[in-house]
Parts: sequence; structure tokens; C-alpha cells
Amino acid sequence: MNRSLAGTRVLVLGGSSGIGLATARAAAAGGAKVTLASRSSEKVNAAVAQVGNDATGVSLDTTNDQALEAFFAQQPEWDHIVVSVAAGRSAGLHDLALQDAYGNMNAKFWTAYKTAKLARIAPAGSLTLVSGFLSQRPNKDALLQGCINAALESLGRGLALALSPVRVNTVSPGLIDTPIRASLPADKKKAMLEHAAATLPARRVGQAEDVADAILMLMTNPFTTGSTLFVDGGGMIS
Ligand SMILES: NC(=O)c1ccc[n+]([C@@H]2O[C@H](COP(=O)([O-])OP(=O)(O)OC[C@H]3O[C@@H](n4cnc5c(N)ncnc54)[C@H](OP(=O)(O)O)[C@@H]3O)[C@@H](O)[C@H]2O)c1
Repeated sequence: MNRSLAGTRVLVLGGSSGIGLATARAAAAGGAKVTLASRSSEKVNAAVAQVGNDATGVSLDTTNDQALEAFFAQQPEWDHIVVSVAAGRSAGLHDLALQDAYGNMNAKFWTAYKTAKLARIAPAGSLTLVSGFLSQRPNKDALLQGCINAALESLGRGLALALSPVRVNTVSPGLIDTPIRASLPADKKKAMLEHAAATLPARRVGQAEDVADAILMLMTNPFTTGSTLFVDGGGMIS
């Protein structure tokens, strides 16, 4: 059984930033030929320049069904696919417009579902989804995000049966310091991260590389499928 990524074709949707970018970098360092995709061509080009091992990039909005279908139709079989596309702004029940709520579900949940349906993945390969620990610890100010994450974790388990022998797993991060909070005021973000570092059992804030490590393990461990792996500094038990 080949546990190496050397020479494999790896696709990272949402690979231009944060957890996806760290995963793309780690996979390329392990010898994979990485393709990363996201909406912004500037972000894609900047990411490709730092991934190495002849990585390539595609500007692709995964909420666009026709574009996603055309993309997968042109592509040969992948060895491993990682879906790390972020939803939009989180907010509580009364503060999130319905259209934004639908858009969030579309970007994060339906991207994963459509990828599973459209992509061709080698029988010895894998699909890894990225959810988030709000699936288990709901937060009233990010109510829908928790529901999307729970749906993804369920999807991952179901897909492990539906796509077998392709392995399908989900990684569920806790608070990770990535550009996802770029729009937060700096002092609010600093306070949030400091509070997490002071209270989490791991006594630190998560980094994108911490999650990328877990994703690489899920990609290469041949006996892991249908699993949800929490990389949350102990957030679940605190
Ligand atoms: N960071 C955390 O604390 C945390 C915690 C729990 C779960 N997560 C989950 O982890 C995943 C990755 O988050 P992150 O922190 O790495 O966020 P990030 O740094 O903001 O990266 C998100 C990526 O998604 C891409 N993207 C967004 N909408 C897209 C679309 N419609 N089509 C294609 N690409 C799209 C973005 O690029 P473009 O803007 O160019 O499209 C970017 O590459 C997300 O699902 C997030 O919910 C993160």
C-alpha cells in the first residue's frame, strides 16, 4: 500500500488561503502535483507561487454549477481531493439574511456534495472535507455554520460508503488563525485569539499547518475512512 504522495495528483478547492493553502504546500512538499482553486485569480496566482513542485492554479467559483462541471469534465482522475472552501459571513438567526444563509450553505456544503458527484478519484485515493467544531458545540452567533459543519460530517460518513473504495474523511478544526477573520477589527481578533490561547487545553491557537498535518494523515492512511478528526486544541472538551 502506497502511503506516499510522491507523483500523485492532488486538488485543493479553496487552496489559495489558510487551511487549503497550508495543505497544498504540505502535499507539494510530500511530492504531489498540486492543483489549487478558488475564485480570485490574484489569490490563486500568489498561492501557486509559494506552493512549489510545479503546482498549478485555477480560478473557479465552486458555487457556479456549470463552471464546476466543466472543470471536472476536463480533468483526468485525481488521487486526492481536499475541499476547504469557506462559507460567507457567520451571524445569528436574526442577523443573517436568508439569501446569505443560502449562499453559505451553497459555498460550503454543496461544493463538497457536487465535488463528490462530479470528480473522478482513483480507487486508492481519497476525498477530505473540512467542517468545523461548531458541528458539535453550537454557537448562537454562528448558528447556520454549525449546521453546515454537521451536515458535512454526515456527508463524509455517507460518502465513505457511496464512493468506496475511495476513502472519505472529514477534518473538523477549532479556532485556527487564518485570513478567514481578515474582516474583523484587529483588537477584536486579538482578544478572541488570546482568549482561546488562554482557555483551550492545548494553551495555544491553532495554525493552518496543524490542520494540514491532519489532512495529510487522512489522505495517506489507507485504513481511515468515514472518520471525523477534530483538530481543535481540546475545544470540544473545554
Ligand atoms: N479558520 C478557522 O478558525 C476555522 C475553524 C473551523 C472551520 N474552518 C473551516 O475551514 C475551511 C477553510 O477555512 P480557512 O480558515 O482556511 O479560510 P480562508 O483562509 O478564508 O480560505 C478559504 C478559501 O476558500 C476559497 N473560497 C471561498 N469561497 C469560494 C468559492 N465560492 N469558490 C471557490 N473557492 C472559494 C477562498 O478563496 P477565494 O476568496 O479566492 O474564493 C479561500 O481560498 C472553511 O470551510 C472554514 O469554515 C475554519
